Amino acid sequence: MKMESPFKADIMKGKVALLTGGGSGIGFEISLQLGKHGASIAIMGRRKSVLDSAVSALHSLGIPAIGLEGDVRKRDDAVKVIESTVKYFGRLDILVNAAAGNFLVPAEDLSPNGFRTVIDIDSVGTFTMCHEALKYLKKGGPGKDSSSGGTIINISATLHYTATWYQIHVSAAKAAVDSITRSLALEWGTDYDIRVNGIAPGPIGDTAGVSKLAPDEILNKERQHMPLFKLGEKWDIAMAAIYLASDAGKYVNGTTMAVDGGLWLSKPRHLPKEAVKQASRAVEKRSRDAPVGIPKSKL
Ligand code: HXC
Repeated sequence: MKMESPFKADIMKGKVALLTGGGSGIGFEISLQLGKHGASIAIMGRRKSVLDSAVSALHSLGIPAIGLEGDVRKRDDAVKVIESTVKYFGRLDILVNAAAGNFLVPAEDLSPNGFRTVIDIDSVGTFTMCHEALKYLKKGGPGKDSSSGGTIINISATLHYTATWYQIHVSAAKAAVDSITRSLALEWGTDYDIRVNGIAPGPIGDTAGVSKLAPDEILNKERQHMPLFKLGEKWDIAMAAIYLASDAGKYVNGTTMAVDGGLWLSKPRHLPKEAVKQASRAVEKRSRDAPVGIPKSKL
């Protein structure tokens, strides 16, 4: 379904956003929507062909955009990409950490290097980007006055709220991301007026996450327990990003917003609703009718 944005078309006007993993999937949709709402966009990614096609799609809509090759696991790449963004657009207001790595694997088959690879991309990569972007995002940085800083959005997940089969590496990595979000919100919110928040998407249709992790046959079964009974759309995540990155979210700092239709709360219904209503009344009636207190004979 193509939805209109509920936000004003110029709500991000004058802002410059850098997105890791912004050339495809959820990251691209956030690039697109930030751009459609007035922001200039820098996309960081490993694959030139993906960057090129993302940038030309943005240009075709009149959105100022550049693609910058780099791997968030390499600190030098992070520095280079951030500096190039500021050199090209003159400032940096929004950093979106959307780069991520994932695959399904039972814990017993995951090598320590496989575990480390995902931690390096998701958690260390997020911290590295935040760390290197600080001097441009903080209040008084390029293009900013002495009282207002930029903002960071870390793309997380809900996998680690409970536990998720075959996702030990990503669950650990995203738990660290959420912790980074809170620590930076505290330290950099206080010292530099930088708001730091996260978004934890549920299963979003037409993304690598869903096609890698939840093939159709599994999803169709899962849907029975999903509160809103449907997959999310990339648009849902992008609207949450606009809320958090714009002044609409100016008092929101340190939160990771689950945008999953309530899915992470869900579990199979163990009794039909009517059975519960009846059983519950019967139990209440029995306990009302039962003698209260300990019978004298038992004292
Ligand atoms: C077991 C695996 C594996 C697999 C890789 N490894 N794939 N182990 N099962 N399917 C192990 C390797 O054996 C190796 O360990 C280590 O991981 C590094 O693998 P490389 O292939 O050398 O790494 P690299 O080329 O850097 O690729 C990184 C990657 C890859 C994460 C493994 O899949 C990737 O680049 N993905 C990026 C795109 C992506 O995944 N997007 C999806 C994001 S979805 P050894 O010990 O052999 O050296 C998402 C959603 C999350 O994030 C939330 C969902 C709700």
